[in-house]
Amino acid sequence: MFSFAVFISGNGSNLQAIIDATLNGAIEGKICCVLSNKKEAYGLVRAKNAKIPTVIIEHDNFKKREDFDDALVESLEKYKPDLIVLAGFMRILTPNFIKPYRGKLINIHPSLLPKYPGLNTHQKVIDNNDPEHGVTVHFVDENLDSGPICAQSSMKVKSKDIEELEKSIHKLEHELYPKVIQDFAKGNLKLRKENE
Ligand code: GRF
Repeated sequence: MFSFAVFISGNGSNLQAIIDATLNGAIEGKICCVLSNKKEAYGLVRAKNAKIPTVIIEHDNFKKREDFDDALVESLEKYKPDLIVLAGFMRILTPNFIKPYRGKLINIHPSLLPKYPGLNTHQKVIDNNDPEHGVTVHFVDENLDSGPICAQSSMKVKSKDIEELEKSIHKLEHELYPKVIQDFAKGNLKLRKENE
């Protein structure tokens, strides 16, 4: 059976949408573990409620980013996930993690990439009077919020209220991410090698 790991750092509303999708069959596969770099992440509670194994690896315990990434790789050995889903995982990964999982590592970002990599995307949309905003799911490469795009979903900006904007963006994320995971599970989404 297709199995995947979800990495989180916080609330985990995307994780919840993904859990729900595995339960109602929209994703044909199971979450082998939820990994967090923060022990207080509410997403861990969501995982426990759904009886999904959790792994906590706190980045503060490592001197170098690479050592943290090696620990991530090691912790996944027993699960052998077919895909890693970053869902609000607030760490920049190094090649130590990215290389072994190249083509099997996706992230969701709250902007229409390549516009606005990094933080505070909603504020940037408001400040720039952008008529549209959206979300992107992409394969992860060595740069921040970069890598080949799997799918995007966009909306018209109707309100300059940041909380409202964030809410609408979350709704788009919760619809899009499970669909992309299901596409990957079914073999309909693949990272093409550079010379293909
Ligand atoms: C989402 O907006 C996601 O795009 C970004 O971090 C946020 C995580 O939210 N990478 P949640 O923890 O899934 O609620």
